[in-house]
Amino acid sequence: MYILAIETSCDETSVAVLENAADLKSNVIASQIKSHQRFGGIVPEVASRHHVEQITICFEEAIKQSGISVNEISAVAVTYGPGLVGALLVGVAAAKAFAWANNLSLIPVNHMSGHIYAARLVEELTFPLIALLVSGGHTELVYMSEDGSYELIGETRDDAAGEAYDKVGRVMGLSYPSGKEIDELSVEGSDIFNFPRAMIKEENLDFSFSGLKSAFINTVHNAEQRGEELSIADLSASFQAAVIEVLVAKTLKALKLYPVKTLIVAGGVAANQGLRQALKQATADMDIKLIFPPVKLCGDNAGMIAAAAYVAYSKGVSADLSLNAVPNLEL
Ligand code: KG4
Ligand code: ZN
Repeated sequence: MYILAIETSCDETSVAVLENAADLKSNVIASQIKSHQRFGGIVPEVASRHHVEQITICFEEAIKQSGISVNEISAVAVTYGPGLVGALLVGVAAAKAFAWANNLSLIPVNHMSGHIYAARLVEELTFPLIALLVSGGHTELVYMSEDGSYELIGETRDDAAGEAYDKVGRVMGLSYPSGKEIDELSVEGSDIFNFPRAMIKEENLDFSFSGLKSAFINTVHNAEQRGEELSIADLSASFQAAVIEVLVAKTLKALKLYPVKTLIVAGGVAANQGLRQALKQATADMDIKLIFPPVKLCGDNAGMIAAAAYVAYSKGVSADLSLNAVPNLEL
């Protein structure tokens, strides 16, 4: 079967065509990052307008690249949350129109389940599993006993990891989003600032990154007041070391509490090379399969939404034309 999927939750307009569980026929992604960069973050109205302009072009391109015709498509899937309400609505409206016009089933998909199922596009999943979800809006540990079952076992109490990357990047004068650049700069610097590793010793599986962000900003401001210039590479390395240490410690804690066969690391921050290395090392002696989706499937894309939709569809999940966007949708 072929599923056509749509993703418009934030700043990427994306349409994909998936054959069965994992054979991606096309995955067209139109990024709006350049339009938001000059504002140093996402402007929701600008995002919605871009989605409206791009969605039809992405549809046509995704179908063309897939090599199949519209009448071969069995279902249309769409991200209906979490995300920016105006952005989500563009995808939801497009999905409903396409489903209605072509008499197709409509599959509602949670964006975070999409990030997890990006892993399914590269490997079969063995359950039970834990997913560490690290993106611009979320930092979560999720336990899955089987396909389509999600139990939130840990989450951030304040900022998401990606959000912290973007905020400290802004303080260093880097362009938005700055996760990738900080990751690259880290290699050239050393962890000399010893930023706080919040909640690392606590028994729970929750995270907190706002204290780290404040410590970082204070360090930079104090140096500025003294007329000192700090090394961006050392600042990056110190920030990244603090984030990674906490993410790894909490993931190991989760693996101890929930013995699983697979660990998936997904979301935009899963592209981080330092995190990949640290988690590979930390789990090297464990009997678990570690899956990082390829970097191009870590950021927002409709291919991952289609992969999650395939599972939902096989479990009988569908929506009618009253489907609405849910900005704070939980797993
Ligand atoms: O999943 P995603 O594409 O969008 C959301 O759903 O939020 O994640 C975007 C986030 C941004 O905060 C960006 O700075 C971060 O992922 N990111 C990275 C890296 N690449 C992207 N963070 C750290 N290291 C990277 N290499
Ligand atoms: Zn995302």
